[in-house]
Amino acid sequence: MAATEPVDLSVADLHPALGDPALTSMNFLNEVSERYPAAVSLAAGRPYEEFFDLAAVHRHLDTFHRHLVDDLGHRPEQARRLLLQYGRTKGIVHHLIARNLAVDEGITVDPEDVVVTVGCQEAMFLVLRALRAGPADVLLAVAPTYVGLTGAARLVDLPVWPVAGGSAGVDLADLAAQVRQARAAGLRPRACYLMPDFANPSGVSIDTPHRRRLLDLAAQEDLLLLEDNPYGLFHSDDGPRPPTLKALDTGRRVVYLGSFAKTVLPGARVGYVVADQRVAGPDGRVGPLADQLAMIKSMVTVNTSPIAQAVIGGRLLEHGCSLVAANTRERSAYTRNLRHLVAGLARRFPAGADGAAAVRWTVPAGGFFVVVTVPFPVDDALLDRSARDHGVLWTPMAHFYDDTAPVHALRLSVSAVTPEQVDVGLDRLAALLSDELTRRAG
Ligand SMILES: Cc1ncc(COP(=O)(O)O)c(C=O)c1O
Repeated sequence: MAATEPVDLSVADLHPALGDPALTSMNFLNEVSERYPAAVSLAAGRPYEEFFDLAAVHRHLDTFHRHLVDDLGHRPEQARRLLLQYGRTKGIVHHLIARNLAVDEGITVDPEDVVVTVGCQEAMFLVLRALRAGPADVLLAVAPTYVGLTGAARLVDLPVWPVAGGSAGVDLADLAAQVRQARAAGLRPRACYLMPDFANPSGVSIDTPHRRRLLDLAAQEDLLLLEDNPYGLFHSDDGPRPPTLKALDTGRRVVYLGSFAKTVLPGARVGYVVADQRVAGPDGRVGPLADQLAMIKSMVTVNTSPIAQAVIGGRLLEHGCSLVAANTRERSAYTRNLRHLVAGLARRFPAGADGAAAVRWTVPAGGFFVVVTVPFPVDDALLDRSARDHGVLWTPMAHFYDDTAPVHALRLSVSAVTPEQVDVGLDRLAALLSDELTRRAG
């Protein structure tokens, strides 16, 4: 909008989070891809669209409806009401989520400790809103971190303190140091947010012994852990998956955040949080943190669309509540793409070749993301040039750090492309990097 447009409000008079890079980042990235629709996108962390099936959505809805009538004994008008009326704040597929966690993750969860949310994004918002009790509260988060978490924290005025991630996924010495430093400064670290499996954006996973050490440290420091796990099912090898933190959690230290966006459908906008921590109310009655989160939810989205929940519930029921079983095709497509991308990087940037040797990349054991490190800072201007002159999109890693320091890395995603598009995208990326190296050398 031109500066001469009549203005009614100034962003300076709105919540300070508005205009913050954490909130504008996603819009910026979407705008770039809209401006260059012909560019190959290795930026989007969206699931593969070729498997989307509209007819299956109708079937899932019917499956869940039959479950209400046949398995749960609801009369037809009750079942219709459950699907179409305002409903239970904590959701109507909580029992199936509990079953899914038992089947796929070996986690025993009381369905009453589950809140079904409008995507995992709402779950993060509810938890952060609840934990931010006063101005001394801070959130620790393993850096680089998911920008949706940083943005949600901004909206509830909760400062985010970065904790080093490193190759182990979380640097425990740094975590302990940050907790103590915050406390020494009179602050109260409320929790540490992390993604133990194929993190977004780093792709790094935490191994099982380190998970146990992390839980020990959390107990020692009396710290909650917020475990976000949207990518855990997409491991590329056929060995066993490491247990989630929640599966190892014997002391109710872990608040578990789940998303069905990558494992069922992002368009359903359904996620959930398992919050079994016991909370004493003002009357002395004790209930799960989930009940407090539900109270916030009742003032934000009232309840998650029951129609959308039914679609997720139906998909779960059709696969014995196993998302592992429901995602065999998806897992193999992502594995194929990840291997193809890593091999393609190795071919285009062989060790010892001029300039190319300075280009390095991660080789994650699964998930959607590979991080490429280059010998110069990667910023939005470079992305714009990449899209305009070379027709390839990716994400500057700087978007995942909560400061303005230059970052020499970019994130590539393999989830929404074919191997042929990976090839085209990598050819174009190689051309961009070669141009940039030449430009800087000259
Ligand atoms: C780490 C992480 N958490 C949460 C989300 C948001 O999930 P949802 O679409 O369920 O809100 C994403 C989406 O990309 C993500 O990468």
